[in-house]
Amino acid sequence: MIEEVKKHLKKVNNFKTQDLSELESFRIEYSGKKGVLNNFFISFRNVPKEDKKQFGKELNLLKNAVSEKIKSFKGEINIVNEVGANGDLFRPGLVPDSGTRHPLSIVRNRIISIFSKIGFNLSDGPEIEDDWHNFTALNLPEHHPARDMQDTFFIQTNPDILLRTHTSSVQVRYMESNSPPIRILSPGRVFRNEAISSRSHCIFHQVEGLYINKDVSFVDLKQTLQYFTKALFGKSTIRLRPSYFPFTEPSAEVDIYWGLETETDRRITKGTGWLEIMGCGMVDPNVLINCGIDPEEYSGYAFGMGIERIAMLLYQVSDIRMFFENDLRFLKQFKPHT
Ligand code: PHE
Repeated sequence: MIEEVKKHLKKVNNFKTQDLSELESFRIEYSGKKGVLNNFFISFRNVPKEDKKQFGKELNLLKNAVSEKIKSFKGEINIVNEVGANGDLFRPGLVPDSGTRHPLSIVRNRIISIFSKIGFNLSDGPEIEDDWHNFTALNLPEHHPARDMQDTFFIQTNPDILLRTHTSSVQVRYMESNSPPIRILSPGRVFRNEAISSRSHCIFHQVEGLYINKDVSFVDLKQTLQYFTKALFGKSTIRLRPSYFPFTEPSAEVDIYWGLETETDRRITKGTGWLEIMGCGMVDPNVLINCGIDPEEYSGYAFGMGIERIAMLLYQVSDIRMFFENDLRFLKQFKPHT
């Protein structure tokens, strides 16, 4: 009898399975009502007195071995089922799907880091603005025709409150509460009531810069822009084309020489090789006065660009709407610049 218990112990110890139903038959064979263990317990009374102690010991060993086996294989089979049908416990885990930076954030961060290297600090302000900060202080009094350049969303109940049309409003706020030298960069979301097309969108993003100090000249502006275009596009040939903004005098449009290599269908530079990338100029003395800065003592320059436009050029995206559709197949293609 004892020998028989020992034989079963060996069998139990050697038992292996990856199959739940096989494990179940094993359980029934040993721990079931009419199973091996129960049969041994029943025959316990027939064991000679002097063997009872030893038999009991062996039987207990067998009982424990059976329950250990069932417990450990059950755990293992569950894991195998979760891991997959091939049951390879050493297969690498599934990589969780992680997010990526939005291309507009990548470009904004690059612009910020380029200007922060030459001392520009960040500044921000509200998206819902008043007329003074968005227009009047910027040399755009009421009924000024240039207000039409930026189709404004007004907050219906109050014509004085609007969605900012540019981040120049942030510069006004900053000048009002700080004195020169001022060197700030204001990235942010802006709003214009424009017809949405492949090139324009009602909500877009700008980065504007402002530098005010003693003896700031147009040369400083051009030098800064050259440094910037070289750092961002790897191209430093620019031209400043005379233009008009109410808040700067003189004003210019900045064109970068893009070249004609990418000009297969004349769509990018219309065959000229030049591309407009931003507006700029020397801060109009009226703006300085409106913000409490003495134009006799200080001068400054300002520039502003649309982040979408820069991103379209950098990544050769032809439709601005791609940035707002949140199509993961599009968004996942962009990696932060190192
Ligand atoms: N605020 C102008 C715009 O939104 C851009 C600009 C900024 C132009 C600073 C000149 C100087 O179009």
